Amino acid sequence: GAAQPVIVAIDGPSGTGKSSTSKAVAAQLGLSYLDTGAQYRAITWWMVNNEIDIEDPTAIAAVAGKPEIVSGTDPAGPTITVDGTDVAGPIRTQEVTSQVSAVSAVPEVRARITELQRSLAAAAEKGIVVEGRDIGTTVLPDADLKIFLTASAEARAARRSGELKGADVQATREALVKRDAADSSRKTSPLAKADDAVEVDTTELSLAQVIECVVTLVEEKRAAR
Ligand code: DC
Repeated sequence: GAAQPVIVAIDGPSGTGKSSTSKAVAAQLGLSYLDTGAQYRAITWWMVNNEIDIEDPTAIAAVAGKPEIVSGTDPAGPTITVDGTDVAGPIRTQEVTSQVSAVSAVPEVRARITELQRSLAAAAEKGIVVEGRDIGTTVLPDADLKIFLTASAEARAARRSGELKGADVQATREALVKRDAADSSRKTSPLAKADDAVEVDTTELSLAQVIECVVTLVEEKRAAR
């Protein structure tokens, strides 16, 4: 029935519309929302700020437990703080974006962040939409619905450079492809489609169409149980 909490995992590479889709689906269905990329960006921001050597996984692992990362899960105004500081802006800089794959590849970092994610999901009374790279495979393998969003590299680069207000599409495409390759090839829970995930190719779809598609899938799941 509709009273039980519903857990939705949305994974995929960057620029597929994961965040916009996840936030809108959560808002429409009255669910909580968690951007797990923001958590990896937040811990990366802390590492950069504290001059931890990003090239040294042992150094990163040694301090992975230090920063306190708190995520606000209201889809109408998601928040993220590190040791009480609002980092919603600083985590989107080029500096953080270029370092986040290295930091998020460290197993101690993933263990720490995964634990946060699971406790937020368990605390969501009506359920939650969690977006990331390894949510369906590793973080919430028992999710009620798993979605894997894809799009061509061209479409993803065009969307990202639009968001970055006119950034060079070619340069954006190269950075994006490089980051996805790093995220897909790391040893600990890489970006991957779960066997039981529904793959949605968004290349030819508008954001409204993707949202409608996911909302329908959630409603079907709810009706079926
Ligand atoms: O979704 P995003 O671009 O904000 O994610 C930033 C980085 O965080 C991404 O390059 C890989 C990492 N990440 C991850 O390793 N696992 C997740 N569940 C989410 C993000």
